[in-house]
Amino acid sequence: MRIEISGLYAITPDEPDTAQLLRKARLALQGGTRVLQYRNKSGDAALQLAQAGALRQLTDEFTVPLIINDDAELALKVDADGVHLGGEDGSVACARALLGADKIIGVSCYNQLGLAHQAVAQGADYVAFGAFFASSIKPEAPVATPVLLRQARREIRLPLVAIGGITKENGALLLEAGADALAVISALFSSEDIQQAARQFVHLNKLERRNMTSHNQELFDASQKLIPGGVNSPVRAFRSVGGTPLFFKRGQGAYVWDADDKRYIDYVGSWGPMIAGHCHPEVVKAVQAAAANGLGFGAPTAAELEMAELLCKLLPSLEMVRLVSSGTEATMTAIRLARGFTGRSRIVKFEGCYHGHSDGLLVKAGSGALTFGQPSSSGVPAEIAALTSVLDYNDAAGLERAFAQMGSEIAAVIVEPVAGNMNLIVPKQEFLAALRNLCTQYGAVLILDEVMTGFRVGLQGAQGYYGIKPDLVTLGKVMGGGLPAAAFGGRRDIMQCLAPLGAVYQAGTLSGNPVAVAAGMATLKLVQEAGFYERLAQLATQLTTGLSASAKRHGVEFCAQSAGGMFGLYFSRALPTSYSEVMACDKESFNRFFHAMLDAGVYFAPSAFEAGFVSSAHTAADIAATIAAADNIFSVWK
Ligand SMILES: Cc1ncc(COP(=O)(O)O)c(C=O)c1O
Repeated sequence: MRIEISGLYAITPDEPDTAQLLRKARLALQGGTRVLQYRNKSGDAALQLAQAGALRQLTDEFTVPLIINDDAELALKVDADGVHLGGEDGSVACARALLGADKIIGVSCYNQLGLAHQAVAQGADYVAFGAFFASSIKPEAPVATPVLLRQARREIRLPLVAIGGITKENGALLLEAGADALAVISALFSSEDIQQAARQFVHLNKLERRNMTSHNQELFDASQKLIPGGVNSPVRAFRSVGGTPLFFKRGQGAYVWDADDKRYIDYVGSWGPMIAGHCHPEVVKAVQAAAANGLGFGAPTAAELEMAELLCKLLPSLEMVRLVSSGTEATMTAIRLARGFTGRSRIVKFEGCYHGHSDGLLVKAGSGALTFGQPSSSGVPAEIAALTSVLDYNDAAGLERAFAQMGSEIAAVIVEPVAGNMNLIVPKQEFLAALRNLCTQYGAVLILDEVMTGFRVGLQGAQGYYGIKPDLVTLGKVMGGGLPAAAFGGRRDIMQCLAPLGAVYQAGTLSGNPVAVAAGMATLKLVQEAGFYERLAQLATQLTTGLSASAKRHGVEFCAQSAGGMFGLYFSRALPTSYSEVMACDKESFNRFFHAMLDAGVYFAPSAFEAGFVSSAHTAADIAATIAAADNIFSVWK
């Protein structure tokens, strides 16, 4: 028989008077104690035997398990339910041999996850960590943290007991971090009303437990039955970082709330669109007004013209533009258009750049630098992937070689001008120059994929930020303000090849949807306010420099950088400049950091290979709180 270890785990105080001990223990049990541990460090063997025997009877009365601290032989003598071992109290195997298979063996692991893994391997029934807070009982105890507990929760399947200085005030933190039971001595037995104190701990536990049968988990479980992987876009499933994805129910400004009503400072911003924060009143107002006039017509509207005018005004490389509904549509069509315009088939992309999920762009490098690309997704025909050449980002010489070898076949080069889908990689000037010059020289179309960088790194996108003139541009994310609006546009001679003017076909029932356009226009109005991007860049810099300084102070190998309102975090010594350098960053450390920050109420992208975003709704105080949370984590990083 195994007994559940959860709830209030009361540890008896050193009490020479057995009658007093029984009185106190009874009150604790009446208050709802779920496990009683007998511990008396000052009594002699005879007293310990008498007290343990008396507690055996008492706990039987309450059908609560009795655990003996340190002494397996005493546990055997009084037929206790189990023993709690400290590091110095002998191995699990010895205790098991003595007590038998159906007794409980718990092990103190202090602040060492390694000890806990060892205890698991040896067949322990629960592990305990502590001390979490200063305690007069064991003032010299090593310090454990909620971060450690959270990591243990992910890695260890046994019940976790938290111990050391726990009170009704600080206990919730540990329950939230994953403790199954709170082990308490002083805050229970030193209180004037022991029964009432026990009840309060039990209440705390119930409240937390209700939260912990997380609605996120319930929703995820149910979703997985109907939606492949439980999500409608793979990265949302937390596969990269592990754990249960968050289901969000609300966003406001810089914050989002999950299904359990926990608030997070949000650095994902719906993967970029929420540059003005969630539910900006101007955006919501514009959406409501547009919706009231009709949700869609499948016919032209004046709002689409206004959007086209604004996009062409803000991005000088746009002479004509067409609205679509997603970044994927924009890039897919830009490629078709470039092929139609040049009469060529081959396209060039760069390893680690993402341009949506159309067949020709779900391609990775084949073996050998200039060989044909290979599908990076099942279902993409090899024949289609073979038309895409995949080169190294930031490698101007590689690009030059590719053009020298097959320049006359290349219809288009598509590139993220700041790569934001392999964490964040900033472009080298020589790379940008090579892109422009080689495309011009060989008559290929240069497509800057600004779905992410457009209105994100600056008002004129990355093309303005770095001073590079593309032939075609793709846009999405910010220009839809959170609703599905995207676009592609560029040189008039190329855009005129599109149907109905030209022979390159493209269409969309929802293209230029009035509600989406309204959200986008309202957002684009906000980003044009004076100082908008200066402030955004300042916030991103405050974040990256603050995190880097904290990591440095605590000796953690970490660095960070930003470009306008987007940023990258890397567990590496130096800022990566290529796909292979990003891949060499310490992903395990990122995942640990991600979860620890999530616990602390900070939501970064759930993958080491995604850029992060700030919004104008973030305040310096939000950033400072984020840095403080990271500092706590880095301070116990080892
Ligand atoms: C640079 C880039 N291009 C294209 C896309 C695809 O956009 P969507 O997800 O709207 O299809 C993305 C999406 O993250 C992107 O980051």
